[in-house]
Amino acid sequence: QTGLTTLDNGFVNTASTKSAITFIDGDKGILRYRGYPIEQLAQHSSYLEVAWLLIYGELPTADQLATFDETIRRHTLLHEDLRRFFDAVPHTAHPMTTLSSAVSALATYYEDVLDPNDPEAVEASTIRLLAKLPVIAAFAYKKTIGQAMLYPDNSLSFVDNFLRLNFGTMAEPYQVDPIVSKALERLLILHEDHEQNASASTVRLVASTEANMFVSISAGIAALSGPLHGGANEAVLTMLARIRDSGESVSTFVERVKKKEEGVRLMGFGHRVYKSYDPRARLVKESADEVLDGLGVHDPLLDLARELEQIALEDDYFIERRLYPNVDFYTGVLYRAMGFPPRMFTVLFAIGRLPGWIAHWRESNADATTKIGRPQQLYVGPAERDLGR
Ligand code: SDX
Repeated sequence: QTGLTTLDNGFVNTASTKSAITFIDGDKGILRYRGYPIEQLAQHSSYLEVAWLLIYGELPTADQLATFDETIRRHTLLHEDLRRFFDAVPHTAHPMTTLSSAVSALATYYEDVLDPNDPEAVEASTIRLLAKLPVIAAFAYKKTIGQAMLYPDNSLSFVDNFLRLNFGTMAEPYQVDPIVSKALERLLILHEDHEQNASASTVRLVASTEANMFVSISAGIAALSGPLHGGANEAVLTMLARIRDSGESVSTFVERVKKKEEGVRLMGFGHRVYKSYDPRARLVKESADEVLDGLGVHDPLLDLARELEQIALEDDYFIERRLYPNVDFYTGVLYRAMGFPPRMFTVLFAIGRLPGWIAHWRESNADATTKIGRPQQLYVGPAERDLGR
């Protein structure tokens, strides 16, 4: 913990966490993973290459990446007992709840690799989580639609294996659409890390107690599920559909947001750090047309989102509060075009964010100066009182 120190520029540094993983400049809309701009990584890299970069600090060599990919493919199978875990899950369960529970349960099969002080165990946990989270996610989805779960096909790439596990069935061979595969790879990269957001901070807090990586990630998934955080991508779709179905104009909806009518927020707008356009939202918006045209999909909700953004960005209420689209504003329209239902959107966010969470867990765990997390409080309760007995 860095505590209160004065920086070179004279500012008092109130940051509670030192990290070398991700840099964000909220005013300039800059996002870099280990120094590399998100725009370059989204355009030219892959989910697993970026995962290696975030976790180990440098881009992998071709051999390192090939071995990493092959090792992950070799660990995609879940323990058969864990498949039965899903028998107990109601089909109505939200996939994020199932995901968090199943990842916690995963730890019970790997008692031999839980020790945070054993470097080999940390590597083994890293590989198992990267390999198995997508499988668990697809199982959670299949559960909601009452379809049989498939076994992974290790001849496929990370993204294609995941797509087949979700959309393939026992009844016929599944052909991955390369447009969907490329678009999903790019979206996963855009979500891989984002500094000390609520879920990454949760993972670091749990890691600071020397809890194992599995339960730390399970806690991160739980934090991400909230509609103010990762759950916002699902909430945006609900908001857009409600506007469409209500028949009210976008302007009328925006006025209701400005009046702060109970529970009415412009979901997918605003950010704790970005007081400018979220660079990830810009990249998603730019690719939206290309992906939907490529899929031959015309989604009126995308037009609605664009109209909403245009009105908001020209309105003083949003300008004064420096509210811009964040990563969640456009992603849901793309996920829907790929065939995912809204309740899977935050699960996709979690799969994207997993390498970042692992990188934060390992950075915290490896830092000998890390002390157990203990956020400070300002006591505002009653002064001492006498029980009078
Ligand atoms: C993510 O931290 C991260 O990096 C997170 C994330 C990541 O990659 O991990 O980027 C992912 O979580 C993105 C954010 C997704 N959430 C949403 O889209 C939900 C809608 N957004 C808001 O709830 C809100 O903007 C937050 C929670 C994201 C940020 O909240 P802040 O910075 O604490 O803003 P605030 O609540 O202090 O609001 C400041 C003002 C308030 O108005 P006033 O009291 O000044 O009159 O802006 C208003 C708020 O009411 N406001 C909004 C608004 N967000 C803030 N008004 C309408 N719609 C909104 N979305």
